[in-house]
Amino acid sequence: MTRHFLVDTDLSPSEQAEVLALAAALKKSPYSKSTFAGDGSGSQTVAVIFDKTSTRTRVSFAAGVAALGGTPLIINPGEAQIGHKESVADTAKVLERMVSAIVWRTYGQDGLEEMAANSRVPVINALSDDYHPCQLLADLLTIQEHKGTLAGLTMTYMGDAANNMANSYLLAGVTAGMHVRVTGPEGYLPAASVVAAAEERAALTGGSVLVTIDAAAAVLGADVLVTDTWVSMGQEAEKEARLKLFKDYALDDAALAKADAGAIVLHCLPAYRGYEIAASVMDGPQSVVWDEAENRLHAQKALMVWLVEQTAAEDALEAQ
Ligand code: CP
Ligand code: NVA
Repeated sequence: MTRHFLVDTDLSPSEQAEVLALAAALKKSPYSKSTFAGDGSGSQTVAVIFDKTSTRTRVSFAAGVAALGGTPLIINPGEAQIGHKESVADTAKVLERMVSAIVWRTYGQDGLEEMAANSRVPVINALSDDYHPCQLLADLLTIQEHKGTLAGLTMTYMGDAANNMANSYLLAGVTAGMHVRVTGPEGYLPAASVVAAAEERAALTGGSVLVTIDAAAAVLGADVLVTDTWVSMGQEAEKEARLKLFKDYALDDAALAKADAGAIVLHCLPAYRGYEIAASVMDGPQSVVWDEAENRLHAQKALMVWLVEQTAAEDALEAQ
């Protein structure tokens, strides 16, 4: 069975831990895996498709594929037939014959599902409107490095709590056994289906979920504080309204003062200082945002290796 990574819960708790351990190992020993070096079993190319702009995701996948002995094929918005001249399913059927994995940043989750349903090679969500699971692997690796553990920690996400990052913090956080609090204004909280999925996962791991409009309560004593832009890609027309809507949910010095004294601060970037995060917090001593950005590289290398190896292992079992 081909293993894909479209949403954080596509990895079980133990699988997520395996990927994070591999990421830590690859960070120490960056060239210890040569998954895409061409041993005759697959292509050396990984397709990395962007329907939205990117800095970190683009560079980390390009550098990561190269470090694993492969060649990244970056396809920028509007450069391929996908979406306008050709269906997602037909695109998948072509790509699976030429590449070892398909990485795709797009809008709807349904497109990723269609790609995965039609692809024998792993499909990886490089950000959709609903989730950003690769970012969460990097964030969890960063938290583990700085706090020494994940399970049992309290992580609070504040701001636009209905966006892709909020959803992924909930799902990936509880998968790691964390207590995840999410806070934002009424009407901008995670969908009931996401909360239900997170609660189901939390029941397995000992984690927990709290969704609240009370920002002060949400940050109280937290070990990890996180936020994200108030204006996600595709929401630019709503910018003025959104800057007002979330102003009581900024990660500023007052919020940080309510957290645990040893709390760390993460932001997936790009960040808008003075809006969702104060410059003094973003650039302050508790911020680990640059480690977090670097960890995109190590986490995604581990993810790609794991998906390719797991797919081969599961295929071999099925063939018996
Ligand atoms: N955090 C993140 O995904 O950044 P990019 O949009 O630059 O890829
Ligand atoms: N929520 C943001 C994340 C950017 C990495 C967006 O979707 O634009």
